[in-house]
Amino acid sequence: MAEPASLKVSVWRGGADGALQHYEVPARTNQTVLDVVTHIQRELDPSLAYRFACRVGMCGSCAMTVNGRARWTCRTHVKRVVGADGELELRPLANLPVIRDLAADLTPFFDKWQRARGTFQPKDAPDGAVPADFAVVPPASKARREADAGIECIGCAVCYASCDVVAWNADYLGPAAMNRAWTLVNDVRDGARGERLDAVAGDAGCHSCHSTQSCTERCPKNLDPSSAIAGLKRTLFWDTLLGRR
Ligand code: SF4
Ligand code: SF4
Ligand code: FES
Repeated sequence: MAEPASLKVSVWRGGADGALQHYEVPARTNQTVLDVVTHIQRELDPSLAYRFACRVGMCGSCAMTVNGRARWTCRTHVKRVVGADGELELRPLANLPVIRDLAADLTPFFDKWQRARGTFQPKDAPDGAVPADFAVVPPASKARREADAGIECIGCAVCYASCDVVAWNADYLGPAAMNRAWTLVNDVRDGARGERLDAVAGDAGCHSCHSTQSCTERCPKNLDPSSAIAGLKRTLFWDTLLGRR
């Protein structure tokens, strides 16, 4: 099928009560969705607000809703997502307040990392003191492998924007915050295991996950927050059964 010479791009403009605005953008070989947005901002409408930094899939700042699905835009080639008639629809990430145009406000997303106790608390150095020595963690240990599986999160919020439970319950911690909590629960150097499990055990925590796996299917880093949440549920179950809580 011949590729269209130009793309018909609909872009969300304004805040929550904004509307789609239409642009025509030249189609190029190996063009990414972020290239399209950048073209609009540089050549057609300098007032367009959007966010990016690294352009290589490391910073997590460029995520948007592309033809109805949350994606990182710097690593999404147009040809993978464009409609047959060259149509692209770009909106800010779902489940988050809109600042303006394609820029969503990630404050609630990162607030939930804090609520899920997503900060490493050294076991042997409470109150922010420097640990006496580096802990030795065997790379092949089960806990280390569990932590490794989720540690490459770039905080892009694609999973959060894809989660139905977040859409229904704005209080729900969401997949990324609990994925982070799971890496720390498995970090033998961490000293806040109990508080962290308490933080994810409430109504807005892991037991509210419906295991639909949208987070896992859409994570651009191929992480598996759904399994991490299942791990939290399992740990809470056994800790309760064995009287450790
Ligand atoms: S598996 Fe759980 S956290 Fe992931 S998208 Fe589904 S409900 Fe949300
Ligand atoms: S878990 Fe994946 S989708 Fe969610 S914030 Fe981290 S990298 Fe992004
Ligand atoms: S711009 Fe950094 S991940 Fe896309």
